[in-house]
Amino acid sequence: MPVRTVLKMGHPILRQVAAPVERFGTRELAALVADLDDTMRAMIGAGIAAPQIGVSLRVVIFEVRDNPRYPQAEVVPYTVLVNPRLTPLEGGMEDGWEGCLSVPGLRGLVPRHRRLRYTGFDADGRPIDRTVEGFHARVVQHEVDHLDGVLYPMRMRDLRDLGYEDTLFPDGGALPPG
Ligand code: NI
Repeated sequence: MPVRTVLKMGHPILRQVAAPVERFGTRELAALVADLDDTMRAMIGAGIAAPQIGVSLRVVIFEVRDNPRYPQAEVVPYTVLVNPRLTPLEGGMEDGWEGCLSVPGLRGLVPRHRRLRYTGFDADGRPIDRTVEGFHARVVQHEVDHLDGVLYPMRMRDLRDLGYEDTLFPDGGALPPG
């Protein structure tokens, strides 16, 4: 399965509301997930959404492993999430730095719900139902926003908190983009 080109901010597909997946366990869906997987790993991302590779379907994947480059990142298990639904839980909002494979080189400070429940399905239609917080919750919110045509700068409160990764974090340590 090939590494696909990641669309960048400004591409109209990134502004679309993606369509739900209607058939699970198909070869087409497995191939899409494999391409997302290869592309996310090649780009060293924390997650990726199908519209970022030009497929306007409600499919995201994410994973954050123990990575010496990002020692402060919480581990997020490898997840394929189809037709997701998010329910914010009590706990308020929290600012955190994000990057996006579709907005290369930049980082921005983005408010997100600190805790949430997410449901959906894996590629074979098995249900997923998790309650998460912190970086896991942030990654899910970032990826699911892609399915609604939203990129993280659109969530920022103050564009003064948008900058280049190598300038904001000259010693490294920025979390991986999604
Ligand atoms: Ni992104």
